[in-house]
Amino acid sequence: MNRTPIIAGNWKMYKTVGEAREFAGVIRNHKLEGAVEMVVCAPFTALSALAEELKGSDVKVGAQNMHYEASGAYTGEISPGMLTDLGMSYVIIGHSERREYFAETDETVNKKAKAAFANGLLPIVCVGENLEQRESGQTKENVREQVIRAVEGLSSEQAKQLVIAYEPIWAIGTGKSSSAEDAQDVIGFIRSTVEDAFDSQVAMQVRIQYGGSVNPQNIASYMGQPDIDGALVGGASLAADSYLQLVQGVV
Ligand code: G3H
Repeated sequence: MNRTPIIAGNWKMYKTVGEAREFAGVIRNHKLEGAVEMVVCAPFTALSALAEELKGSDVKVGAQNMHYEASGAYTGEISPGMLTDLGMSYVIIGHSERREYFAETDETVNKKAKAAFANGLLPIVCVGENLEQRESGQTKENVREQVIRAVEGLSSEQAKQLVIAYEPIWAIGTGKSSSAEDAQDVIGFIRSTVEDAFDSQVAMQVRIQYGGSVNPQNIASYMGQPDIDGALVGGASLAADSYLQLVQGVV
């Protein structure tokens, strides 16, 4: 099974519109002929400008969150249809920072995953254990629960297009990345969990990224693992040259 690796930058709460345009200007002519899918997930305020700057390029744009309802009295929220309207391709769902600081739950992750597909967006669903769970040997149990709850009610066709990002929380922004072997162990387990939830065909097609202190120096070690299909990258995706080095590290 040939799965196209996907490098997704997650800018978190960084970059003004002007900075986003400048970044786009550097990366927009980068051509990889389908070897890697390039995605940039920006703050809401920069999405429109990025979509405009990257139109016709090989780089897709995504949001970092959304509400699951189509519309309503939800002050400060953004609907899936609003993202589609801006030309978004992807949306990150259930990032650990959303789970920790903004009360995201497995239930809302599931609602958002369904709403994303219903609106033509591809969800990048984040799962991962915290340090305490890691140290008490509960990594797989925790990740399995998050995956099963996230995909509940999705069709096989939808699940095949899903991107799952395995991000151990203790590795995010800390410089303490998981070893490629440990990441492979958990990501292989996530793939078998998807097989349990659907079937082997879905499991072979779903793309699973690693995230957590990925940089241009260590990307190749993750990509050398059989079940790792790319990376969700925070800090090292903020500079255009570093982002391009990550992408080149995959091919
Ligand atoms: O979404 C990205 C992750 O939170 C990883 O962030 O690459 O800065 O560790 P990081």
